[in-house]
Amino acid sequence: MLKGFLFVWLIAFSLATIAVAQNNQTGFISLDCGIPARSNYTDITTGLFYTSDVGYVSGGVKNNISSKYQSNSLERQFLTVTSFPTGTKNCYTLTPAQGNSGRYLIRASFFYGDYDNGNDRFPYFDLYIEEKYWITISIYNASIPIQEEIIHTPSNASINICLVKLDTTTPFISALELRPLNNTIYKAILNSSMELFIRLDFGSLTNQYVRYSNDAWDRVWRPFQLPGTLIINTTEEILQNTFQLPLSVMSTALIPDPETDPSPDTLTFFWYSTNATDKYYLYFHFAEVVKLSETETREFSIYVNDNLYYGPLSPAYLSTTTVYTVNPGSGIERYDVLINKTESSTLPPLINAIEIFRELRGYKPDT
Ligand SMILES: *[C@@H]1O[C@H](CO)[C@@H](O)[C@H](O)[C@H]1NC(C)=O
Ligand SMILES: *[C@@H]1O[C@H](CO)[C@@H](O)[C@H](O)[C@H]1NC(C)=O
Ligand SMILES: *[C@@H]1O[C@H](CO)[C@@H](O)[C@H](O)[C@H]1NC(C)=O
Ligand SMILES: *[C@@H]1O[C@H](CO)[C@@H](O)[C@H](O)[C@H]1NC(C)=O
Ligand SMILES: *[C@@H]1O[C@H](CO)[C@@H](O)[C@H](O)[C@H]1NC(C)=O
Ligand SMILES: *[C@@H]1O[C@H](CO)[C@@H](O)[C@H](O)[C@H]1NC(C)=O
Ligand SMILES: *[C@@H]1O[C@H](CO)[C@@H](O)[C@H](O)[C@H]1NC(C)=O
Ligand SMILES: *[C@@H]1O[C@H](CO)[C@@H](O)[C@H](O)[C@H]1NC(C)=O
Ligand SMILES: *[C@@H]1O[C@H](CO)[C@@H](O)[C@H](O)[C@H]1NC(C)=O
Ligand SMILES: *[C@@H]1O[C@H](CO)[C@@H](O)[C@H](O)[C@H]1NC(C)=O
Repeated sequence: MLKGFLFVWLIAFSLATIAVAQNNQTGFISLDCGIPARSNYTDITTGLFYTSDVGYVSGGVKNNISSKYQSNSLERQFLTVTSFPTGTKNCYTLTPAQGNSGRYLIRASFFYGDYDNGNDRFPYFDLYIEEKYWITISIYNASIPIQEEIIHTPSNASINICLVKLDTTTPFISALELRPLNNTIYKAILNSSMELFIRLDFGSLTNQYVRYSNDAWDRVWRPFQLPGTLIINTTEEILQNTFQLPLSVMSTALIPDPETDPSPDTLTFFWYSTNATDKYYLYFHFAEVVKLSETETREFSIYVNDNLYYGPLSPAYLSTTTVYTVNPGSGIERYDVLINKTESSTLPPLINAIEIFRELRGYKPDT
């Protein structure tokens, strides 16, 4: 049943990629939707350079969110939106410099903020990418942003991202961002696109989200602590692999807490698939952060639904190892991940970060 999961790959650090990535915004497209035409600014929190979306979409109305929802802590991109009261389908066209030979992270953000002042129904609409159904956006709270991210290999030099009206409510968007990735990684079968399910920074010391410029590709890492775990960390530099993970993400890890965890030799977590036909791609990121003595070992195996996914594995001290799905299984309703120490290991398992993606189906599921 889980046959596909047996095909995994491991990428450890390599000498070629030790050099710290250039953190510059070459090839980034950062649109703050709803700001005046031709205007631009550098965001003081991230250092990202945003421009107006005028010229990337035809039509659309600029709006400010309601003053009730404006605050100093709100991301600047959420202060305005572009809305599409006319037409059923309105499309943005992004033309990345690398064309269709590249692979891109594309993120769309929606912060409603009651921009239309008291419309009594929350917006509900579909998002499409290059004619394929991506996801349905259903606003459920005016002050909770929705962010959708996809890793996409375009078939054309230009990428169309469309907002499609479903009912009487009006589609809108707050920000649209594109980042070129190294196209040797995050590669789904047949180059199909993958939508982000979750991206977690396990064991954060600051409890802050991490993104650009700590992450050269502006992936957004959410701090997360599994129940019954302890944080371990290092202040040393960690060698990167091709995934170029942020140092602050890799320098902390979780281990089972022997005091509170009923099974102190294992780390476990699970999720339910949205639809059993969905295919999930897992990316586990590991680095040893503790200098082990000669008598100590940390070795573990990863199981998914009781099938060996990868192992045994013993992450090298201060260098990144990524283990990821090459050929996903499907037909699974609940995924249980269990990372347990091998019998000979003297130390419990650790984990620094994880990313889980879902293959884009491209059509709307029957409801
Ligand atoms: C930015 O990064 C790109 C690719 O990594 C590199 O080719 C370019 O020279 C860098 N530009 C600057 C100004 O550092
Ligand atoms: C940013 O705005 C300034 C001032 O309006 C303008 O001179 C400049 O050309 C703009 N830059 C870009 C890249 O849009
Ligand atoms: C949005 O707010 C800015 C200033 O905060 C104002 O100049 C602009 O006219 C407002 N736009 C709309 C559509 O109300
Ligand atoms: C996947 O994309 C890469 C880069 O765009 C391309 O070289 C390769 O031929 C594609 N593979 C398939 C199976 O489409
Ligand atoms: C790619 O571009 C061609 C020519 O512009 C167009 O006919 C085709 O529909 C596009 N394909 C997608 C998937 O957008
Ligand atoms: C919307 O979200 C905010 C912030 O998380 C919360 O305080 C508020 O209670 C929520 N409103 C509703 C109607 O759930
Ligand atoms: C872990 O982080 C804390 C806070 O930054 C620091 O004081 C401590 O030295 C770190 N531990 C190790 C082993 O580096
Ligand atoms: C992508 O990663 C490979 C393998 O680490 C590396 O050789 C190559 O230079 C990278 N490409 C870019 C554009 O950074
Ligand atoms: C680890 O877990 C798997 C799956 O539950 C189990 O088959 C295996 O015996 C466990 N190994 C150890 C050393 O506990
Ligand atoms: C799952 O997807 C399949 C294929 O689109 C569909 O027939 C089925 O109804 C979906 N199941 C659920 C629970 O949405």
